Amino acid sequence: MSNEIKNEKPRFSPFRNWISLLGMVLSLGSLFSFAMLFTMDVFAKESNPYLGVLTFVVAPSFLALGVFMMIGGWLFSHRRLVKQAKGVSPLLLSIDFTRPDHRRNFVVFAMCAMVFLLVSALGSYHSFHFAESVAFCGQTCHVPMKPEYTTYLVSPHARVGCTQCHVGPGAVSFVKAKLNGVTQLKNTLLSSFPRPIETPHNLSPAQDTCERCHWPKKYYGDVERTFTRFLSDETNTAYTARLVLKVGGGDATHGPVGGIHWHMNLGNKVEYIATKTDRQVIPWVRFTNTKGEQTVYKTSDFKDDPAKSHVRTMDCMDCHNRPAHQFRSASDSADLALSLKKIDSTLPFIKSNLVAILSHTNATEAEGLAYIDSSLKKAYPKADAKLVAAAIMETQGSFTNSIFPEMKADWRRYPNNIGHKNWPGCFRCHDGKHKTEDGKKKIEASDCNSCHLILAQGAGEELGKLNPKGLAFAHPDSASEGKDPDCVTCHGAGE
Ligand code: HEC
Ligand code: HEC
Ligand code: HEC
Ligand code: HEC
Ligand code: HEC
Ligand code: HEC
Repeated sequence: MSNEIKNEKPRFSPFRNWISLLGMVLSLGSLFSFAMLFTMDVFAKESNPYLGVLTFVVAPSFLALGVFMMIGGWLFSHRRLVKQAKGVSPLLLSIDFTRPDHRRNFVVFAMCAMVFLLVSALGSYHSFHFAESVAFCGQTCHVPMKPEYTTYLVSPHARVGCTQCHVGPGAVSFVKAKLNGVTQLKNTLLSSFPRPIETPHNLSPAQDTCERCHWPKKYYGDVERTFTRFLSDETNTAYTARLVLKVGGGDATHGPVGGIHWHMNLGNKVEYIATKTDRQVIPWVRFTNTKGEQTVYKTSDFKDDPAKSHVRTMDCMDCHNRPAHQFRSASDSADLALSLKKIDSTLPFIKSNLVAILSHTNATEAEGLAYIDSSLKKAYPKADAKLVAAAIMETQGSFTNSIFPEMKADWRRYPNNIGHKNWPGCFRCHDGKHKTEDGKKKIEASDCNSCHLILAQGAGEELGKLNPKGLAFAHPDSASEGKDPDCVTCHGAGE
């Protein structure tokens, strides 16, 4: 149609050409998407770190492209105009509403633009939901998130969205998460993420995450847990401990205040200073009771000025730091498979071999799986082939669920603070070494029945003899009996 306007003198306007118009629609569309994404994000029940990439990177990129097209079109038509002035036949696009063909074209154009806007609105809406989803967090970012995603899928929280624990409500965590999301996406694209991924230690406080679902005042009372273990001797001797954990509660309207959940900070408050960001060494603890009276406990080597250190208020995550990503240790994986009888415990030294095999360092998952296959075949050349095949399959399964060579992620990198056997856990404070200034009071540790009662221990017949008052611990390895109660010295990092 542009060829039809040969003799008319076109009135010049920067947007009177189709390229600029398209650019304009694109800019409007992306502005519109930006506004939609932004509003959805602000009003959403929970925010998503990666949505920021769409809102602040993708939408503005299209905006920039649109603006670029508008200017490009303008320059293009401007050049045509100049050429026309020199007597060269112009190819200029222009719109004149007095002309029926232009009116018709404009209607078609306007309709297309409407459809485009609608599609971009739908697109924004779907991107929003996709970025919100667990699939996005766990799978899109496949390599770096694989360890956390896999462990999450076998955790009690497999149905809880990543953002429920990782992004708290409020404007500050909103902006923080946005910035984080952009950096993480960049790192993924450049493959420059740390291996293993570091534990953030900056999750929003439990009040904003865990306590949106878990009512801190709930009284749990006694919780029974059975730990079935196997020794590394030839017969893989079983050792089971049945414990009653005195979880209790922290609020008098629901039950007696006391027990493990006493630390719930409902009336009293426990604060601490850790020497490093991994929070494994805690030399200073301050306890404030309901009346506001404070007691400070510290170890003898703590000389820093507490006022200058970062003081953290204890919450759920100081004990339950692996609610969704538990990296099972080699020993725990072996114990589980043996206790479920998925691996036959008549295979001599099977526990010991499994621990050695799962502790072997591999460069890739494929290498690890092959190593399990070849080492177990080598260790049991004469055993029933079916038993060995089952052991191989089960061990490979444990491996893919909790050991991630490509990301260097396994139990050795991620301590679990819930107990005290494999990591310091409770004994970071309850080690008997945290005392008041005058030395008269300390955080209790010596009594093995203060946090739990050992109802029964041992194997077979012995397990039938329950003692409601709690048994004295009979360490399964008699050589270690009565030695240092600090279990970690021998059992450290999953041993
Ligand atoms: C039940 C709450 C919860 C859910 C759900 C959850 N996480 Fe976590 N996540 C945590 C906690 C707690 C930590 C450790 C934080 C700390 O110690 O400071 C963590 C740590 C991480 C880390 C750091 C590396 C590490 O293991 O310490 C990554 C990465 C991570 N989570 C990703 C995810 C992804 C991806 C999802 C969803 C597939 C998810 N998380 C779901 C609670 C959760
Ligand atoms: C969106 C809701 C939700 C959030 C947020 C959440 N949880 Fe849970 N949690 C659950 C549900 C539901 C269960 C029970 C799962 C079951 O028994 O099927 C559970 C179970 C648990 C258990 C018991 C696990 C077991 O082995 O039986 C612990 C401990 C726990 N959550 C701690 C936490 C901590 C710590 C956080 C914060 C980092 C958290 N939860 C955040 C919903 C949530
Ligand atoms: C002082 C450490 C500590 C703190 C702080 C703590 N817990 Fe626990 N919690 C435990 C221990 C120990 C158990 C016993 C179960 C176990 O050993 O796995 C437990 C058990 C639980 C259970 C499971 C009860 C059951 O019936 O199996 C839930 C759910 C739970 N805690 C949630 C929370 C939530 C939510 C918070 C924060 C408001 C919290 N805990 C704070 C140590 C703690
Ligand atoms: C950051 C330090 C710290 C950690 C970690 C810690 N505690 Fe405590 N705990 C304390 C302090 C402080 C007290 C109160 C001491 C006092 O009476 O002055 C206490 C008291 C207790 C009590 C007695 C509560 C009552 O009824 O009066 C129990 C039981 C307990 N802790 C269990 C645990 C368990 C189990 C763990 C690990 C899952 C754990 N604690 C981890 C600091 C800690
Ligand atoms: C500060 C509280 C506390 C004290 C004191 C304590 N324990 Fe425990 N213990 C725990 C908790 C919590 C667990 C559960 C860990 C879990 O859920 O995985 C546990 C688990 C255990 C287990 C099972 C370990 C396993 O993984 O097979 C044994 C055995 C045990 N304790 C023995 C002892 C002995 C012996 C003492 C005395 C030297 C002692 N405990 C003192 C809190 C305590
Ligand atoms: C002096 C070193 C030492 C100390 C300290 C120690 N253990 Fe052990 N423990 C051993 C040895 C060695 C074995 C036998 C390991 C084997 O055969 O695989 C063992 C086995 C066990 C087992 C059964 C097998 C297993 O691997 O789970 C449990 C449970 C256990 N110890 C709990 C504890 C607890 C709880 C503490 C702290 C109160 C503790 N131990 C302190 C050396 C020690």
